[in-house]
Amino acid sequence: MGEFVRFEVDGGIGTIRLDRPPMNALNAQVQGELHEAAMEAGTRADVRAVVIYGGAKVFAAGADIKEMVTADYASMVQRAAPLQAAFDALARIPKPTVAAITGYALGGGCELALTADFRICGDNAKLGQPEILLGIIPGAGGTQRLPRLIGPAKAKDLVYSGRFVGAEEALAIGLVDKVVAPDDVYSAAVELVSRYVTGPALALRAAKAAIDGGLDGDLASGLRLETQLFTGLFATEDRAIGMASFVENGPGKAQFVGR
Ligand code: CAA
Repeated sequence: MGEFVRFEVDGGIGTIRLDRPPMNALNAQVQGELHEAAMEAGTRADVRAVVIYGGAKVFAAGADIKEMVTADYASMVQRAAPLQAAFDALARIPKPTVAAITGYALGGGCELALTADFRICGDNAKLGQPEILLGIIPGAGGTQRLPRLIGPAKAKDLVYSGRFVGAEEALAIGLVDKVVAPDDVYSAAVELVSRYVTGPALALRAAKAAIDGGLDGDLASGLRLETQLFTGLFATEDRAIGMASFVENGPGKAQFVGR
């Protein structure tokens, strides 16, 4: 349990809750606490899906500009690696993850949302990569995860201009997956991942590793990765349960055990 990032588990769903008012600015301490929360979410057996949430008012307005204002090249070389590592740890949580976005998700806040498998936002949300307005570029994965999600031209539009995107446009360009009333953001995110809590955990883990790992490289390597992960699942109890259940009772009735 960190000072600014809490990790709470309820009914198999872990919530990584940012709490650094007023804007959840991501200073070095928050980044470290996010890294710890990602490791806990990834390794705890009682956590089967994860929500990243910034509270009712704001998701996160980015890296802490006040902390960076006096930084020079040498100091940022030191600080950028743990920042990337924290966000990488979030992206690699081997379970379904969703970002529940209220209000602003800007700069590192938008990049934080990009580490999740899915994004749900309130109709008041504003997303963007405004780093260019500070004379820098995104440094927590935005130049890489954003074009993979929405394509290079749309990513360049957002990164070059620094403009904010409202919920409707974010949905249209695939930056978010669903828009709901601001008060419903967290419950909608919980609902989205709750279906995976009783799912075949090792197959879900393999599916995420195959898709994300494949996107990192060329098609042939991705297909080899898929084959390894696919065949490996034949060593799991859930594979035996899933297929026996289909043969006996038809599709979709298996009671998985997560092993
Ligand atoms: N870092 C530090 N402080 C921040 C902050 C940030 N990213 N965003 C907001 N704040 C602070 C403001 O300075 C202000 O503090 P004071 O009350 O002490 O003056 C307080 O939060 C409230 O902010 P505003 O008064 O500006 O509130 P607003 O409603 O008028 O505007 C906003 C809200 C549009 C989010 C505006 O604050 C804003 O543009 N913030 C900066 C967004 C940004 O540039 N993010 C990118 C950061 S760089 C980055 O993230 C690099 C990376 O890739 C990792």
